[in-house]
Amino acid sequence: MCGIIGYIGPRLAVPILLEGLKAQEYRGYDSAGVAVLENDEIRLIRSQGKIAMLEERIGGEIGSATIGIGHTRWATHGRPSDINSHPHLDCKNEIAMVHNGIIENFVELREWLTERGHVFASQTDTEVLPHLMEHYYHGDLVEAMTQTVERLHGSYATVALCKHEPRKLVAARRDNPLIIGLGEGEYFFASDMAALIQYTRDVLILQNGDIALITEEGVTLYNDGKQIEREVHHIDWDRTAAQKGGYEHFMLKEINEQPWALGQTLKGRISGDASAVDLKELDFSPEYLKSIQKIAIVACGTAYHAGLVGKNIMEKMLRLPVEVDVASEFQTRDPLVDRHTLSIIISQSGETLDTLIALRECRKRGSKIVAICNVVDSTIAREADYVLYTWAGPEIAVASTKAYITQLMVIYMLTFYLAQHMGKADHAELRSLISQLYRVPEAAQLAIDMNDARAQELSQRMKDQSSAFFIGRGMDHCVALEGALKLKEISYIHAEAYAAGELKHGTIALIEKDVVVLALTTQSALQAKMISNIQELQSRDAFVIGVTMEGNEAVSKVCDTTLFLPQIDERLAPILSVIPMQLFAYYCAVVKDCNVDQPRNLAKSVTVL
Ligand code: G6P
Repeated sequence: MCGIIGYIGPRLAVPILLEGLKAQEYRGYDSAGVAVLENDEIRLIRSQGKIAMLEERIGGEIGSATIGIGHTRWATHGRPSDINSHPHLDCKNEIAMVHNGIIENFVELREWLTERGHVFASQTDTEVLPHLMEHYYHGDLVEAMTQTVERLHGSYATVALCKHEPRKLVAARRDNPLIIGLGEGEYFFASDMAALIQYTRDVLILQNGDIALITEEGVTLYNDGKQIEREVHHIDWDRTAAQKGGYEHFMLKEINEQPWALGQTLKGRISGDASAVDLKELDFSPEYLKSIQKIAIVACGTAYHAGLVGKNIMEKMLRLPVEVDVASEFQTRDPLVDRHTLSIIISQSGETLDTLIALRECRKRGSKIVAICNVVDSTIAREADYVLYTWAGPEIAVASTKAYITQLMVIYMLTFYLAQHMGKADHAELRSLISQLYRVPEAAQLAIDMNDARAQELSQRMKDQSSAFFIGRGMDHCVALEGALKLKEISYIHAEAYAAGELKHGTIALIEKDVVVLALTTQSALQAKMISNIQELQSRDAFVIGVTMEGNEAVSKVCDTTLFLPQIDERLAPILSVIPMQLFAYYCAVVKDCNVDQPRNLAKSVTVL
């Protein structure tokens, strides 16, 4: 994610742009910049780092501009640096543009433009935009924007400022948000309402394919070559609510962003005919793939739980041994890792020190390293041989949700990719799994819709409970571990996850009347055994909440109540079954009036040993 801001009106632009960027800093914070028109020239100021650094760099400069655009970046293509910061310019410094999204065909476009004499300054995908605009601009900004976006594959919200039309801004959107704030004789662009709330509450929300032209006289919208109208929305949130997109907490916002985030993770990584996973980031030779004898996955916390799902699916599909370790333990046990081991290092932040040390240990032992990270250009991403980004956007809540779910998505894609290239895949089976992967973002939305109110209702029961249990077998056990972690870290309710078959070896001693047990049962081969375990709990009067696929009456019949999931290939079930766990934990924390986004004693990223 990145944050965009734009202003045209009678006031000084720079303070408005800076305020707008600060309100959207949660969308990206590795670099920022503004471009304004002053004395008929584009003035560009950019800085790597937080918005405060940009502010310092601007100092008292750019005194009189009343039109401009700004951007706060979360790097995707090209590491955070002054040069890679937005806005970007065309060759003649006449057009400046900001962009949120990913231009998937930027390499081809860059070549095409270079052949026509354009010179690029940055490593970003975005820089093709002002150069395309320069190519197509012949006195009509809307026409140039129309032709520019026709060339793009991928997603974008973008705004352009042009020195030849000094009282106009032109914008376009596909798959990334962009809204227009309507003031009195002044207009704004932003990615998020949070940036505008202090100026106006009337907004136009651009839809896919829209192109917008704003001047001081008003807004003109186009779609598919025709002028159109869009309804004006009146927003009545307060400012803090606006930053959270209207949600009460970042965690709930991030849970609700998961369908979008999963779509981002998938984007551009499946072949056109949906028959293969295409991970351009990897370039393993056939000889190297043949030499792999083992996979080692290392991570901490939630990322470790994603790794456990990885072990299940990889062993099943690749028929290779997969070891999973928490990074702090990995270092203590002289691990059996060598050049025949492929190491997979998972870290949302890419900065967890234990995980980083584990990566270095793997490298020392001659292993190749694939990192799965969310934060672009983080230390782990930089030190790995290959990095597969999750593209989930900044995660603010300490309890990880969208990072975990997108880590799972990457793990599945990596497994399918390895199966393809190691000759371990049945073609038809793989095709069917990949087509199911495509359905996952939509199914995740359904899983949220089906469970939000139910989870809230069930959380009431936890108000006075001191503990809860999560059970499952196989992949369900991995998700049970994540469910228990979510509950304890934000609601402070003691929660234990157990492999359902192990219950009888100790934990069942803790089961008494009304103790809440969440029983995950998504795997048909394990269902009969799970039903027996649920019945053992029922005969001790536990309150059992089943988690299973829609329509599974065999399970719902033996549970006190059931949380249902939309139908999906059961090998992909962890991506969906974690959603009711997250919602349940969230509402339990709310019911207990806990600080959901910043739980006590925890940090988002642990950079100490
Ligand atoms: C901390 C966070 C967890 C996270 C873990 C690993 O404990 O609170 O949410 O899962 O670190 O973080 P990483 O950034 O390496 O995934």
